[in-house]
Amino acid sequence: MKKKSPPSRSGRFTREVNADVAQFTESISFDRRLWRHDILGSMAHVTMLQKIGVLTKKECTAIVKGLDAIGKEIKAGKFKWKAELEDVHMNIEAELTRRVPAGAKLHTARSRNEQVSLDVRLWLRDEIVLLLGEIAGLQRALVSLGEKNADVLIPGYTHLQRAQPVYLAHHLLAYVEMLERDCERLWDCHSRVNVCPLGSGAIAGSTLPLDRVLVAKLLGFVDVNGKPRLTQNSMDAVSDRDFAVEFCAAAALLAVHLSRLAEDVILWASTEFNFIKLADAYTTGSSLMPQKKNPDIAELARGKTGRVIGNLVALLTLLKGLPMTYNRDLQEDKERLFDTADTARATTRLMAAMLQNTQINPGACAVAANDPALLATDLADYLVRKGMPFRQAHHIVGKVVALAEKTGKPLNRLTLAELQSVNKTFGRDVRGVFDLKRAMAKRNLTGAPGTKEIAKQLMRWRKLLQA
Ligand code: ARG
Repeated sequence: MKKKSPPSRSGRFTREVNADVAQFTESISFDRRLWRHDILGSMAHVTMLQKIGVLTKKECTAIVKGLDAIGKEIKAGKFKWKAELEDVHMNIEAELTRRVPAGAKLHTARSRNEQVSLDVRLWLRDEIVLLLGEIAGLQRALVSLGEKNADVLIPGYTHLQRAQPVYLAHHLLAYVEMLERDCERLWDCHSRVNVCPLGSGAIAGSTLPLDRVLVAKLLGFVDVNGKPRLTQNSMDAVSDRDFAVEFCAAAALLAVHLSRLAEDVILWASTEFNFIKLADAYTTGSSLMPQKKNPDIAELARGKTGRVIGNLVALLTLLKGLPMTYNRDLQEDKERLFDTADTARATTRLMAAMLQNTQINPGACAVAANDPALLATDLADYLVRKGMPFRQAHHIVGKVVALAEKTGKPLNRLTLAELQSVNKTFGRDVRGVFDLKRAMAKRNLTGAPGTKEIAKQLMRWRKLLQA
């Protein structure tokens, strides 16, 4: 017996595709995760079709009920997906039509070209909100760790060389700032995801009097003032994947930030730094070396950044040669997009959990932060306060550092006579420069790691992140 053609081939085609072709062209294996949004979109579409008189009330109700039942079965894992029906859109429509005769009217004035754009937009809108939630969680974990260790100082580094002392909280809040910019970018991207393409047809709209505004409103495609947001060019609407690229770009930068945080965690957890202790549950052992406790979560966070960046490049490459409008190439967007969303979300969540279970080693931090060389710039500032041009002060402190090195003493152990042998400007009050507490109290510019400023910044973030 001849198998029934999938809806997209019936009528026009005389032969079925062979199995190999079907397997090569299918997307059901990955786009089935759009089922929820596909059903929502179809419900809005038929509600509108009824409103404009294309469907009777009865037909509309039957379709909505049928879709609802299919949704429940999918959720329960009982729905039978058919690879020969290619994608999520045709699987659901075909099954609906099998059950409900009016289902044959569902696709009136609609194309899969706009449907797939609609589904991905609806799905991505939700994903962005979920990702933003995870990012806020990570920000909270960073702020909490800073608050719990509010008086811990560490060296700040440039070139991975000790530079100047900072509060640990200052270092952690640097990531909170980066993550906040990620949130801004994601929200900005959300505004362009949140545009309704339905009514674009396959390429050129429809001859039927569709109510695009109603569909947009039903699906929440509205701006902050409740004004519906509709795509304004049907050709652009069916081929546009800019919103997916934007999301992948924002997520790639987020992943880069997470990777940098991971790198700091990995360094800090090493015996050489020993600034932190990761909880056992967030580390793994070695199969060979019994003493090992490895920071695998951080390492994988760093490693997974590669695929998130790769996904962005893959999407851009996918789009660059496409003539207008929809081309089947676009089907390749989804796995990259899904992978980015899943990876970004999981990595953010795991990094937050790991930090929530991280202990600071105040002793090791204090030893490192008390390196008097970190205050060499403060020593130059001391000379500047006495009226010396900074360039000269820098030169003199350079000589002082060389003298300390030569005599094998830390900077703060040089006698006044030794200091004065380099330059007479040094006075008895120079001792105060090496008082770390005082040094930190002095750095109170906005954005600097001063004692008061850090307390203020922690408070600011605590308030902003209250949710
Ligand atoms: N599975 C397709 C995709 O993901 C859906 C749209 C197919 N449209 C078409 N004209 N073949 O892009």
